[in-house]
Amino acid sequence: GAQYAQLIARRVREHNIYSELVPHTISAASVKEANPAAIILSGGPASVLIDDAPTLDQEIYNLGIPILGICYGAQLIAQQLGGKVERESQGEYGRTTLNVTDSGSSMMGGVCESECTVWMSHFDCITEVPEGFIGTASSPNAPVAALESDSRKIWGVQYHPEVAHTDQGFELLGHFLKGLAEIQPSWTMDSVIDSSTQAIKELVGDGRAICGLSGGVDSAVAAALVHKAIGDRLVCIYVDTGLMRAGESEQVVATFEKHQGIELIHVNAAERFLTALAGVTDPETKRKIIGELFIRVFEETAATIEEAQFLVQGTLYPDVIESGTSATGKTAKIKSHHNVGGLPDDLSFTLVEPLRNLFKDEVRAVGTELGLPDEIVWRQPFPGPGLGVRIIGEVTPERVDVLQRSDLIVQEEIAAAGLTRDLWQAFAVLADIKSVGVMGDERTYAHPIILRAVTSDDVMTADWARLDYDLLERISNRIINEVAEINRVVYDITSKPPGTIEWE
Ligand code: XMP
Repeated sequence: GAQYAQLIARRVREHNIYSELVPHTISAASVKEANPAAIILSGGPASVLIDDAPTLDQEIYNLGIPILGICYGAQLIAQQLGGKVERESQGEYGRTTLNVTDSGSSMMGGVCESECTVWMSHFDCITEVPEGFIGTASSPNAPVAALESDSRKIWGVQYHPEVAHTDQGFELLGHFLKGLAEIQPSWTMDSVIDSSTQAIKELVGDGRAICGLSGGVDSAVAAALVHKAIGDRLVCIYVDTGLMRAGESEQVVATFEKHQGIELIHVNAAERFLTALAGVTDPETKRKIIGELFIRVFEETAATIEEAQFLVQGTLYPDVIESGTSATGKTAKIKSHHNVGGLPDDLSFTLVEPLRNLFKDEVRAVGTELGLPDEIVWRQPFPGPGLGVRIIGEVTPERVDVLQRSDLIVQEEIAAAGLTRDLWQAFAVLADIKSVGVMGDERTYAHPIILRAVTSDDVMTADWARLDYDLLERISNRIINEVAEINRVVYDITSKPPGTIEWE
């Protein structure tokens, strides 16, 4: 339940040490079987003082595996091993000064000599350490802000070393992992590629696999990795809905067929999609039509590939964590929906999910290592229904063309300003209203383009990007001058919530 649990897992991996998240309910027997080199107990929103507070199988403390408790995790250690945690009326939130009170501390000695700035977020605090432990640091409202028992190999800190605001936080985690737990940092993208390709070879054997490419980074990296493992026994399917951005389909084909040498079936289904969408203006109806037709086209194409038993999917670790399944369970019969096109329940493939242990930034690193171009590796997210949900009102071939040309200008200018990686998404939307303008001496009456650019960390919330005025001016001038059908450009300054990122 910790807000920062994924962040801790990533920080450990940034030290080139593999990490997995498991629920606090894991048994000592399961931990013993998994045989981790170290355990980190995360923080969490609960209080150890309430009746049904999350706890740990007490036997885990006796396995001799080095443990670091963070925030709630440190309090849990104190409480479960016989110390005392109490409700401190003030608590501590945000920037706090930590004072090291024991210069001989094996944990603090390696990282913070006497005083450092740390990030706190707690209302309870440890007031007594368990027998055999020593308190090694304090802060204004935490008499014990760090504790340790070298002989039991258990350490704890009240603050959050995983957040960037904590001085030497990254170093503290590194000191615990490499210094105290003596782990060799050998988990690199090279080793990920090696072990994944090995696992894919074992799983697929002599079988054949298919992979639906969406143009996005996840399916692209998954395909490249599987191709490295099984070569021409992988066939990719790229369904061109006609609702892609300008040049996108050509780029996918060029990258996979020509550069990677992957067999690719490029299904040009633009006409089918546009025919199905004729006259439709309701956003949800558009989504439904596009989604269902996508499935039909994918199925028809997959049926032409003989003896394909495996379906490659670009599922990532955050999806795995959220669905509560295990990171190491490599296969499962397809039950739930496909994360790109929404494939149905009854496709009888065995799933190959080579990215299910990886975070997005790691997927990008693997993609680069496998030789995929930056334009694919650093591509911004793009919705499954494509430009269909960025054309307000009816989707016609002419309107798709207007939006593609306008959006290309946005992409070019954002890239030229070096902002593609900083922005979560930046794109054009074609509105279905008209406004009056004047160009030369002529009156115009045409549609506007809405420019949308947002920053976001997790897609659940987003903020409109504070783009430079000169950049906005360049985009506006170019669209109006180069796209004759457009006579006005407006900038969307709505955050999410209350808005959504897309317009439909
Ligand atoms: P919203 O508009 O809900 O978008 O703030 C959040 C993120 O999801 C993408 N998006 C979609 N992706 N199918 C998709 O695969 C869809 O129907 C869809 N609608 C929105 C959107 O681009 C943004 O990144």
